[in-house]
Amino acid sequence: MVVKIHQLTHWKQQSRLITALTAWDYTSAQIVDQAGVDLVLVGDSLAMVTLGYDTTLPLTLDEILHHARAARRGVKQALFVVDLPFLSYQLGSEAAMRSAGRALKEAGAQAVKLEGGYEAMVLTIAALVQAGIPVMGHVGLTPQSVHQLGGFRRQGTSPEAGERILREAIAIEKAGAFAIVLEHIPAELAKQISQSLAIPTIGIGAGPHCDGQVLVTADILGLSSWRPPFAKSYANLRDQAVQAVQQFCQEVREEKFP
Ligand code: KIV
Repeated sequence: MVVKIHQLTHWKQQSRLITALTAWDYTSAQIVDQAGVDLVLVGDSLAMVTLGYDTTLPLTLDEILHHARAARRGVKQALFVVDLPFLSYQLGSEAAMRSAGRALKEAGAQAVKLEGGYEAMVLTIAALVQAGIPVMGHVGLTPQSVHQLGGFRRQGTSPEAGERILREAIAIEKAGAFAIVLEHIPAELAKQISQSLAIPTIGIGAGPHCDGQVLVTADILGLSSWRPPFAKSYANLRDQAVQAVQQFCQEVREEKFP
């Protein structure tokens, strides 16, 4: 089934949980799409997972679009969403429009994701949506604000902070976003937000009460050298890959291959 943005809201209405995973190139996109994931995200986590940066901050729009173009070629069914990297949209609606427009025109994105629910960002989301660009919001732990947040820490743990995140999520929905990522917040807060919104919430480290779940594909495959505490590995491909390479080296040195 080819997934379109409105399908996600129908699924929420039917209590059909939504699956989302990241991709960073043609092969990873083909794998997650072929496996039947609903939404493929070229997330800016590629800065850390694929490009080896310590945070997502150094990633440029050109870099993510390069990866997104490759991933796009591997996606046939899933909804294809591209993250806008740090400083490609925070300078106002016009800058955001240019960046989002490039994601749609150059990388075939069907939607963009951006972080934050403060007033200026909500205006930017509304401007993009009015221009016909579907937007996915992202609140809670917003990695592009890592320095402001004092690290990759759980958010919304006090009643005031939880209330603020709920207000941001409601404002993002009002601005016209079609879905929203809730990252690393208490499960009860995620439940409250999910019940308050008509658009689907996609959780990551936000407990089981969201309308869907997203993880970083390198984490679920066990490829990453580090993964957050809330991620789950369903395979251990990193160890298998090291073993395969060791075996190749050994067989060549012992003249067993070719
Ligand atoms: O960049 C990313 O991969 C993300 C997801 C983890 C939600 O934003």
